[in-house]
Amino acid sequence: MRYHLISVLSVLAAILLGSLAKPFSPRWDDMRTKHSWNAVPENWESLGNPLNGTTINLYVALKAHHKNALIDTLYEVSDPNHPRYGTYLSKERIAELVSPPPRTLEFVNLWLEYHGVPSSSVSMTHGGTTLTLSGVSIIQANALLGASYQLYRHVETNETYRPHGWLVQTVVPTTCFSTPHTQWHSPHKRSGGAKKPVSGGPVTVLSSRDGDWTTPSFLRSLYKTTEYTPAAADRNAIGIVGILNDYPSPEDLAMFVSEYRSDGTDAAITIVQVNGGGYDPTNPAGESNLDTQYAVAMAYPTPVIFYSVGRGPEGTTDWLVSWFSYILMEDNIPQTISISYVIDERFTSKEYAMYMCAQFGMLGALGVSVLVSTGDDGVGRGDCVANDGSVRFISSFPATCMCGILSQLGRSPYVTAVGGTTGSEPEFAASLSGGGFSNIFQRPYYQEQAVTEFLQHLGNQYLGKYNATSRGIPDISAQALNFPVFIKGEKVVGYGTSVSAPIVAAMISLLNDYLISQGKVTLGFLNPWLYGTGMSGLTDITSGSNPGCNTDGFSAIEGWDPVTGLGTLDFQRLLPILPDYDGAG
Ligand SMILES: *[C@@H]1O[C@H](CO)[C@@H](O)[C@H](O)[C@H]1NC(C)=O
Ligand SMILES: *[C@@H]1O[C@H](CO)[C@@H](O)[C@H](O)[C@H]1NC(C)=O
Ligand SMILES: *[C@@H]1O[C@H](CO)[C@@H](O)[C@H](O)[C@H]1NC(C)=O
Repeated sequence: MRYHLISVLSVLAAILLGSLAKPFSPRWDDMRTKHSWNAVPENWESLGNPLNGTTINLYVALKAHHKNALIDTLYEVSDPNHPRYGTYLSKERIAELVSPPPRTLEFVNLWLEYHGVPSSSVSMTHGGTTLTLSGVSIIQANALLGASYQLYRHVETNETYRPHGWLVQTVVPTTCFSTPHTQWHSPHKRSGGAKKPVSGGPVTVLSSRDGDWTTPSFLRSLYKTTEYTPAAADRNAIGIVGILNDYPSPEDLAMFVSEYRSDGTDAAITIVQVNGGGYDPTNPAGESNLDTQYAVAMAYPTPVIFYSVGRGPEGTTDWLVSWFSYILMEDNIPQTISISYVIDERFTSKEYAMYMCAQFGMLGALGVSVLVSTGDDGVGRGDCVANDGSVRFISSFPATCMCGILSQLGRSPYVTAVGGTTGSEPEFAASLSGGGFSNIFQRPYYQEQAVTEFLQHLGNQYLGKYNATSRGIPDISAQALNFPVFIKGEKVVGYGTSVSAPIVAAMISLLNDYLISQGKVTLGFLNPWLYGTGMSGLTDITSGSNPGCNTDGFSAIEGWDPVTGLGTLDFQRLLPILPDYDGAG
């Protein structure tokens, strides 16, 4: 798998500075190494040089002219206390805010021209933050980046994930090894520590007794949405992002709804295939079935759109980059979007994570709420021993690496990260609930007080094992265990924060439904509200913990904690405290 964008940007910046300082004579071979690997990371093997005829798409992320303009604006339009609250931006306005300085484009064009990249293959994408170079040959790509692209395969997952990927092994950027996986598991897989989608794997078939299971009716009663009848389903939607050829089955959905949401038997999901994403309704898989079945059952009749995102004709495009490139061009983006994938390997670059985070910032500025699951490994899987022998929680796993891309994106300050709970009266933390602190993203202002209070409570415990200055996750949480789900006509059970995210997305979508029906502006980026006035509509989860890294993990306590965040949503208490903005001013 290839993760490109990354530090191309920084390389260009270096070139530009050099060029400006001297008389105008760009030296396009004057490059610095931004990131390289001494060895192929564990579980990856080199397949050698790609064939010369092979082409790939390259993404060149450009720095914005006004560095903070987008994020400043995002916070203004997302903070109910700000006069600009709810004045979400148009695509055009966002493109203005993130546009690079004119000279950057001039230089980039010279650089591409020098290497014989025709202007016809260059387009501006991702809301204006990125130049996409389509169909670049490997030889050109190597020359452009001073790189040596090689073909790699992930040894464990090749058949499931089409893991062939292009990577720059040495010299310049795009040095990211990663293989995404879902956060949904069958119980058997969990004990084995396997992380693959459940399709074809062992599952527990449920008996007809559903008493102990987390059914939609249990969830709707626990989170108090049962009484609410959606009134704006024609103007509202939930989006679910799927990858890895994992797509839902309409037949399974019909069976699920007939058993668990009998008033919704006409429910359907819309499938949108992006960048060659697959769809075979007769061959569904666990993650997407679970996500869509719960989103539908929680928010019926609100439409659910499933994005099956592929990696392009040659299988070389980063799936998340593909999805952003598509969604940011759309005129009607679902108001609420749920993503339940994390990356298994902890190999990426900080630049990539920052770039992706900014893409989420754009969605927020457009008024979209994004919910991302935090993962199912508590504070971290394995022993978490770093090179220097110290134990560090998830964010900085061993060796050479940063962190998982998506688990890092879950730490993005511009998405709402969802952890896991279980039980009722009282609801408590599910021990799998992913939680902790970023090593890339600083603590956002909206979290400062909540996280500081937790850290004061924590005192010296785990000092050095986590990053006390940065973004904490999750923000909120929802049930994560014992979900019945239909897959290929069979009722099985699954669990994971994978399911928590679409459950929360469905509830946010119901809140939006109410706002739309009242002529009000929808919620958008949630966190400034959640950590402010929204907090009183949450149920604080104060017991349970998230062990991992051979430790007991963090404990859920009163207030925010890196296990369950601020708590779970209470729909009836949230309704009256929704931001009240009619979009007129
Ligand atoms: C591929 O291209 C490189 C650089 O032009 C050349 O040195 C090499 O011989 C080519 N390989 C094949 C198999 O054509
Ligand atoms: C991966 O591919 C190799 C070579 O084609 C094959 O031998 C191996 O069984 C595959 N592994 C899996 C998990 O499919
Ligand atoms: C801690 O997080 C900050 C971002 O908030 C980052 O700049 C710093 O490098 C991190 N420290 C470590 C030791 O990773």
